[in-house]
Amino acid sequence: MIILGIETSCDDTAAAVVADGKVVLSSVVSSQIGIHHPYGGVVPELASRKHIEAIAPMVNAAVSASGIDAEQLDAVAVTRGPGLVGALLVGFCFAKAYAYMRSLPWIGVNHLEGHIISVFLEPDPPPFPFVALLVSGGHTSIYHVTSYTTMELLGQTRDDAAGEAFDKVAKMLDLGYPGGAVIDRMAKQGDPGRIVFPRPFLEKSVYDFSFSGLKTAVKRYIQIHRDKCAGRIPDIVAGFQEAVVDVLSHKVIHAAMARDCNHVALVGGVAANSRLREKVRHDAGLEGMTVHIPSIELCSDNAAMIAAMGYHCLIAGKVSGLGDDVFSRARMG
Ligand code: KG4
Ligand code: ZN
Repeated sequence: MIILGIETSCDDTAAAVVADGKVVLSSVVSSQIGIHHPYGGVVPELASRKHIEAIAPMVNAAVSASGIDAEQLDAVAVTRGPGLVGALLVGFCFAKAYAYMRSLPWIGVNHLEGHIISVFLEPDPPPFPFVALLVSGGHTSIYHVTSYTTMELLGQTRDDAAGEAFDKVAKMLDLGYPGGAVIDRMAKQGDPGRIVFPRPFLEKSVYDFSFSGLKTAVKRYIQIHRDKCAGRIPDIVAGFQEAVVDVLSHKVIHAAMARDCNHVALVGGVAANSRLREKVRHDAGLEGMTVHIPSIELCSDNAAMIAAMGYHCLIAGKVSGLGDDVFSRARMG
């Protein structure tokens, strides 16, 4: 079954064609980073306007790069939420019209479920059940995944998402937007042990997170050491990154242990972080767990994961109606 996927929840206009929920025939992304960069964050109205310009060319590019004809598509899957409403509506309306025109079924997909299912686009997917850590710019959550369409939320952030913390710390240090990849690169030149920031572990058996205190600790450090900060930036970001990575790795491994689960997945934009990938692989390995992390391209927002999740929804009989709407905040199932 061949599915066209469309993703416009934030600042990437993405389209992809995926066969049977696992073989990526094509995946294209038009990034708006250059447009939002001067503002230090995504400007929602600008994002919607750029999606309008990019959506048709991206869909056409994905179909032509896939090597199939549009007539061979079996369904259209599109991100329904969570995300920026104006941005979501562009992809959603386009997908509805595209599917209606071709008399195809269409499926509104949860973006977070798409991230989790992205591990099935890789050659070595985890068996069920597994525990997934979803870390992105808007979400930081742990799920117990028992089937393609059954994901139980075990814990989530109580304030900032991990990616948001990376972006805000980068902004404090004038490192540009989005900050995650810059901090990842710069931290390699720093010593993660020189400046030790607090680890917000919260209660032991709780799989919730809190990153706003850590962000404030970095801010305070910068204010106190204003004069000497410039030379210490690699150490500051390395210390900050190590604190985030410690907490994320600890929580996901303990959640898996509590569920007697030997398989861990790491998904979402922050799963591209080299230190996080290394630490989870190492620490989970010590516990005899297998670790499944998508390639960098499949960690950040893409439409292949939306097409894959759409396939599993379709198999489960979950299709959308023409009256369906988008949603802005997280909800699963
Ligand atoms: O999943 P994603 O592409 O979009 C959302 O759904 O939010 O995640 C974007 C987030 C941004 O906060 C970005 O700074 C972060 O992922 N990110 C990283 C890295 N690459 C992207 N954070 C840490 N290290 C990275 N290498
Ligand atoms: Zn995302």
